Amino acid sequence: MDQDSKKQAVADAALAYLRPKLESDTIVGIGTGSTANRFIDGLAGLKGSIGGTVASSEASAERLRAHGIPVYDLNSVDRVAFYVDGADEANAQLQLIKGGGGALTREKIVAAAADEFLCIADDSKLVRTLGEFPLPVEVIPMARGYVARELVRLGGDPVYREGVVTDNGNIILDVYRFPLAQPLAMEETLNNLTGLVCSGLFARRPADRLFLAGDDGVRELE
Ligand code: 5RP
Repeated sequence: MDQDSKKQAVADAALAYLRPKLESDTIVGIGTGSTANRFIDGLAGLKGSIGGTVASSEASAERLRAHGIPVYDLNSVDRVAFYVDGADEANAQLQLIKGGGGALTREKIVAAAADEFLCIADDSKLVRTLGEFPLPVEVIPMARGYVARELVRLGGDPVYREGVVTDNGNIILDVYRFPLAQPLAMEETLNNLTGLVCSGLFARRPADRLFLAGDDGVRELE
């Protein structure tokens, strides 16, 4: 199976898992990226069976609306039953690195608000230890130099993502060779860095279920 077919397979698996659980008032949180896009396209076939969605990026909101799927502001819904999103890396504890697409802050907010977080990915994303993929962090523009120096002090090698402004008006630093053997502790350290809005490390709020596509089909980890 090529990578595109794997993305399609996990999107289909997540839809099959959700279908019997959806009710007319169910709000589904929607992630960002090429795998999430497959899920959005599939969800279009179920749009009459749900209350609507909350999107983690302007790009996903636009795609949802193009399918005629209602998109709500997170503040206007009482409950997000499910959040479905891809990942850049996942470990066996379902802790993730996310933010390759730059939407990490809104992704983390919707994931935090959701009752159940379903991660959908191809098997190239499963790693023993997080950190081979550079960790994206969203930073207030004026804090870029300060935060970069702090990240170097923590053992990383931050690189400014040129030309990217997030949906929140901030910049992204991609941190290479970051020591992530203790993801929970490092997420907490990053959360305490002034000027750093959010890291793409999802350790405190890992996925609840990971649909992973390989050559032999889709398996589920929880
Ligand atoms: C976007 C993300 C994506 O989930 C992550 O980059 C995976 O993307 P793709 O499904 O295209 O491989 O975190 O900010």
